[in-house]
Amino acid sequence: MVFAYIRNMEQLLQQIEAMKAEIAATVATTPEQVEQFRIKYLGTKGLVKEIMGEMKNVPNEQKKEFGQILNAFKMMAEEKMQQLQSALGDSDEQSAKFDFTLPGDPVAVGTRHPLNLVRNQMVSIFKRLGFAVAEGPEVEDDWHNFGAMNLPEDHPARDMQDTFYVQEASENNAAWLLRTHTSSVQARVMETQKPPIRVICPGRVYRNETISARAHCFFHQVEGLYIDENVSFADLKQTLYFFVQEMFGKDVKVRFRPSYFPFTEPSAEMDISCQICAGKGCNICKHTGWVEILGSGMVHPKVLENFGIDPEKYTGFAFGMGVERIAQLKYQVNDLRLYSQNDLRFLEQFKSV
Ligand code: PHE
Repeated sequence: MVFAYIRNMEQLLQQIEAMKAEIAATVATTPEQVEQFRIKYLGTKGLVKEIMGEMKNVPNEQKKEFGQILNAFKMMAEEKMQQLQSALGDSDEQSAKFDFTLPGDPVAVGTRHPLNLVRNQMVSIFKRLGFAVAEGPEVEDDWHNFGAMNLPEDHPARDMQDTFYVQEASENNAAWLLRTHTSSVQARVMETQKPPIRVICPGRVYRNETISARAHCFFHQVEGLYIDENVSFADLKQTLYFFVQEMFGKDVKVRFRPSYFPFTEPSAEMDISCQICAGKGCNICKHTGWVEILGSGMVHPKVLENFGIDPEKYTGFAFGMGVERIAQLKYQVNDLRLYSQNDLRFLEQFKSV
């Protein structure tokens, strides 16, 4: 082949020098050109191999010196090969070197917050009964939160809800506050819509309470309002009974206890059989087998009048419940603080829900 004519060492050395110059001058801009270089010099039938084969013709006394020359030549060819490859990698031929079979880096996927999961489920149950979702501001005026709901200033029932005031009432200005219940949204709906009215009001509410496992300075409610002709307490009971059966299953038991709210008359609180101990008695139900989940009642005629709705013609029911409480019974969360601490160890448990 190429070296067949080589007669003496001189010629061989010249040949190597010529190839070195050629290697140094090689440029490759495509993977194909790099591959051609590899085949020509480093392949199994390449020039490096072939010239190595010349060793056997080298006289013994020159073998050591010539061996070093050959090795240097081989290394030069290999280094050039690497250079060509990495130069290619820097160019837009990157994909030629990219291993598409490598597994990708895992992407951390977030989870829905348990309160959102439960709120969504509550909303979807009431939507099936024809309730629409209404929303309103969290910073509210005194009238929508209290006055319109039959809680005039100095009414003792205001003590039921310790309030965060943003601005106290003055001669010319009403007080501004963080809403203590989403009944304020009911007020805004009655202000703008005519019966029949059928809405639920999900949202965050605020109360001035010391934070503990059982109380928080903010929590979430879903309140409901239904006003039409001939709406009765039986409608209220059936609606809420349907809700808890959908939420907790057909085996859930309910009971109504008479209660007091200024904006409803009569008023009732509803208990369900404890979903944690199945009514046997535990810490959550304080060993009674029952847990209170909501307040409700027939809309007070004065509230209807406040919004120009004729209480002789229309009646309605209203209810309000805490999302945290429902979530607690569904997921057995026994500390309210967990909901707002953003601890991934807590939140990740709702991945598959
Ligand atoms: N607004 C009441 C509360 O926050 C709940 C409620 C709503 C009660 C509607 C009766 C009727 O405690």
